Amino acid sequence: MTMDARTAPPDLVLEVNNIEVVYNKVVQVLRGLSLAVPRGQIVALLGSNGAGKSTTLKAVSGLLALEDGEVEAGRISFDGAPTTHLAPQQLVRHGLSHVMEGRRVFEDLTVEENLVAATYALTGRDGPAPSHKPRNFDDVYAYFPRLHERRKGLAGYLSGGEQQMLAIGRALVAQPKLMLLDEPSLGLSPKLVEDIFTIIARINAERGTSMLLVEQNASVALAIAHTGYIMESGKVVIDGSAERLAADPDVREFYLGVGGSGESRSFRELKHYKRRKRWLS
Ligand SMILES: Nc1ncnc2c1ncn2[C@@H]1O[C@H](COP(=O)(O)OP(=O)(O)OP(=O)(O)O)[C@@H](O)[C@H]1O
Ligand SMILES: [Mg+2]
Repeated sequence: MTMDARTAPPDLVLEVNNIEVVYNKVVQVLRGLSLAVPRGQIVALLGSNGAGKSTTLKAVSGLLALEDGEVEAGRISFDGAPTTHLAPQQLVRHGLSHVMEGRRVFEDLTVEENLVAATYALTGRDGPAPSHKPRNFDDVYAYFPRLHERRKGLAGYLSGGEQQMLAIGRALVAQPKLMLLDEPSLGLSPKLVEDIFTIIARINAERGTSMLLVEQNASVALAIAHTGYIMESGKVVIDGSAERLAADPDVREFYLGVGGSGESRSFRELKHYKRRKRWLS
């Protein structure tokens, strides 16, 4: 019997089901959040400051524990298995890489040493045995030629855009099935944002890497995403295909900076505006 597209279950690389997340045992941030990332797709996760986007990514990658946060209810499955009992480094070995907000790199190491350091997370007691063969990073440098040029230089001297490239490059070292990207556009010039998003879309298209992409910059995220979710106050308020979200009047007004009169607001003004105006208040 063959299953057609209507009856075949979707192949989800990530499934987040009704999770509740609490910090310090008291502050509830996620309130029944659910989302799914179909294998091979880019899924955008959008929303205002404080909506819980970064918390969602930390819940998935297991980094919540570092901040005294806990998933108190709900389920998270990565590649078909629950993540509950897996430590962050085990999840990395299973193919889940988290590029955190703010381009975390080791500033006192060179670019190449940063990539080498990323390989250390891939070996260990419960992972593959350490390889004595030096790893070459040609695959990373193919996406980021600029990092190859700067490979002997200290990461601390890279520009903001180059540090973001290095943060993504460090995640690529693990050859992830799923990348969690937290605001890769933050603080970058429009030209660099475009360059980085083009590379993210290429990595997805060429390697089939699934992506869960958190962004404040909704228009660039929806331009490369297949589907998207908009969250407010710890839960999803709208979801749909990227085309549908980009055409939605509310999304256009609040997240794409297109006001009722059709004029476009600057991103800075929009960010300020969003802080005051809560979604569905
Ligand atoms: N470690 C923590 N301890 C306590 N509360 C926290 C912690 N981290 C985040 N929060 C709170 O959880 C809420 C959601 O934060 P989160 O960083 O997930 O939002 P966000 O959607 O990523 O926002 P932004 O767009 O500003 O990055 C906020 O109210 C924040 O103050
Ligand atoms: Mg955040």
